Amino acid sequence: MFAPMTTTTPKTSGSRASIYLLAAHPHWRDSRVNLRLLAAAREVPDVDVNDLYATYPDYAIDVEAEQARLERADLLVMLHPIQWYSMPPLQKLWLDEVLTYGWAYGHGGQALRGKDLWLVATTGGPEASYHPTSYNRYFFDAFLPPYEQTAALCGMRFLPPLVLHGARSASEAQVAAHVQTFADRLASYPDWPEMDGLDACPTCEVPDSDRPNDEEAAMSRTAFASALQHTQAAAQSPSVEVR
Ligand SMILES: Cc1cc2nc3c(=O)[nH]c(=O)nc-3n(C[C@H](O)[C@H](O)[C@H](O)COP(=O)(O)O)c2cc1C
Repeated sequence: MFAPMTTTTPKTSGSRASIYLLAAHPHWRDSRVNLRLLAAAREVPDVDVNDLYATYPDYAIDVEAEQARLERADLLVMLHPIQWYSMPPLQKLWLDEVLTYGWAYGHGGQALRGKDLWLVATTGGPEASYHPTSYNRYFFDAFLPPYEQTAALCGMRFLPPLVLHGARSASEAQVAAHVQTFADRLASYPDWPEMDGLDACPTCEVPDSDRPNDEEAAMSRTAFASALQHTQAAAQSPSVEVR
């Protein structure tokens, strides 16, 4: 886990917090657990729920709308099944497009500072499979740094994830208890017992020198467009030689 470099003011409990929940499942009809978690979230007052695959079936994410919803929230929840040790593709695209430089991180990027990020995930592999002696080879924590550091770069606190392992084989009682824990946590945020022991949000400053300036970026876009044009022309007309 990453040690914080500097800290910002930790969130205190008090008036009802705002929660923005992103639910991402490419095939809801096949879902046993996430579908029930989604239904439970919809029953909790003041939770803004966005079913990403229903909202953006064409993957055309409305970045401005997403940033506005995020700005209103104290807590961002990412709810999804683990796929290839990571998140479903539309959830990843959402991060790529919504967490922009100058807004979420980097020069002037303060919009998410002091907010919380909570991962709520399910795995097909049982807990015992996430072990050096088993087929997933690593403890599950080993797959979390991309989530945790995404939060840190944006000045967000990464809350302890809620994970149900072996989601396809868990007993009905285990699934029901898990869904109840999830709903209770949403309803009681930020008054969670483990909050007191958490580190405050780390701050990771990106030096301006680590980003190309606008002029350089424009030049490389122009060079790319002209190379693309040349390649397309060559593909359409075999007489144009591509070097
Ligand atoms: C494309 C794909 C990739 C998957 N990758 C993993 C994985 O890396 N690790 C794992 O434990 N389970 C993996 N699974 C299993 C899902 O995590 C599991 O089916 C899901 O968490 C069950 O939740 P649900 O009932 O809501 O669909 C994968 C499933 C699919 C379809």
